[in-house]
Amino acid sequence: MDEVLKRQESGELRRRLRGRDLVGFGVGIIIGTGIFTLAGVEAKNHAGPAVTLSFVIGAIVAGLAALCYAELASSVPTAGSAYTYAFATLGEVFAWIIGWDLLLEFALGAAVVSRGWSGYLANLLGLPPELFGEEAVVNVGAVLIIGVLTAVAVAGIRQSSRVTNALVVVKVAVCVLVIAVGAFFVRTANLTPFVPPARPAEEGADALHQPVVQAALGLEQSVYGIAGVLTAAAVVFFAYTGFEALANLGEETRAPHRDLRVGILGALGVCALLYIAVSLVLTGMIPFVNIDEGAPLAHAFASVGMHWVGALIALGAVTGLTSVMMVELVTIGRIGYAMGRDGLLPRALGRVHPRWGTPHRVTIGGAVLIAALAAFVPISELADMVSIGALSAMIIVAVAVPVLRRTRPDLRRPFRVPFSPVLPVAAALACLYLMLNLDVLTWLRFAAWLALGLLIYLGYGRRHSRLAEREPVA
Ligand code: ALA
Repeated sequence: MDEVLKRQESGELRRRLRGRDLVGFGVGIIIGTGIFTLAGVEAKNHAGPAVTLSFVIGAIVAGLAALCYAELASSVPTAGSAYTYAFATLGEVFAWIIGWDLLLEFALGAAVVSRGWSGYLANLLGLPPELFGEEAVVNVGAVLIIGVLTAVAVAGIRQSSRVTNALVVVKVAVCVLVIAVGAFFVRTANLTPFVPPARPAEEGADALHQPVVQAALGLEQSVYGIAGVLTAAAVVFFAYTGFEALANLGEETRAPHRDLRVGILGALGVCALLYIAVSLVLTGMIPFVNIDEGAPLAHAFASVGMHWVGALIALGAVTGLTSVMMVELVTIGRIGYAMGRDGLLPRALGRVHPRWGTPHRVTIGGAVLIAALAAFVPISELADMVSIGALSAMIIVAVAVPVLRRTRPDLRRPFRVPFSPVLPVAAALACLYLMLNLDVLTWLRFAAWLALGLLIYLGYGRRHSRLAEREPVA
């Protein structure tokens, strides 16, 4: 902890960023497959037009969690991720859990985005959906793009900030285009009833795909209705993930107290408004049962005869999603590197390549896993896993806020969550509630992931960590 704080005081990084810079950067990393693809998938399968409401719920939960992130990040503002400050504040086991969760979040996030990318590429170039769409048995497009971007990430070719800024503009432009042009094609008939009435799930629907909360209460398995809206909210929470990266820029802002709050809440607010408007227009343009799961936005425009707008959107999505995957692949490398440096993962795994200057092993290892998952697993099941990973990490972060205020009241906190501990507790409960709306299978998979993580921790990390070196485990 003190080491971390010393770094904070030395102020090696320049304080150049303002609140509005953070908003721009945040919007750039947040917008991705969540709105381009999942909005359509969830409208079709769970919520109907009320997917718009799911986005509102997601925004509120993300906003609450973001405040907690901002306080921790401003009091322990290292350039690392939530993992680093969990290490400094809550200790090794929690750090391990968060690091392990974040690896899951970013790896599966990249897999989701690669499938979304592939769907839009197929739409743009007329490629066979059997190889590039959601119905593909092996999604070739997703594997290809992960391969190419991994090579770029390993070679250490960073996108210049100019390219990144241009991609932000492209993604926002796609959303604005959808809203401005699509609004003329909205038919109220498509939006009524706004919340499609709940109906029993079809014969053969298996219990594993029932939300945990329904299964626990012994309710009959159903689709749509309010339960469907909540399930969709938990899945589209994915669309808001990524803002965590903003919380790590505390050291580089001019006035962390104001700028972090403006940046994080501003970026989330802008995204929420765009998401709500885009999902409203999408479900207003086309009956939700007819939505295409591969490239929902482009397809909706083609279906009302606006083929050129559809093509522009597909082009924008293919370009814009590339930057999201890049950020995720690079982040996996960073987290792996940090965990290796701390001895929680084998050091060799996180080692930096002498010539390329990147943690090549963990990046390539992660990419192989990502490509395997992206090849075979449907987009919404992958997104479920990202959401559960992100939500559980956020619970730990939210709980850490009041804990740290008690254990380290002396810490300088440029940004403080208002109404602590009420607000952090509300944030943790809201995250937990959304998690309970994810299905049984997702929980089982997540439990398996955590169990595997714990085994690795007990079998390796606990004995090899930097802390263990200082006080050997008996
Ligand atoms: N929030 C990012 C997306 O929607 C991960 O793709």
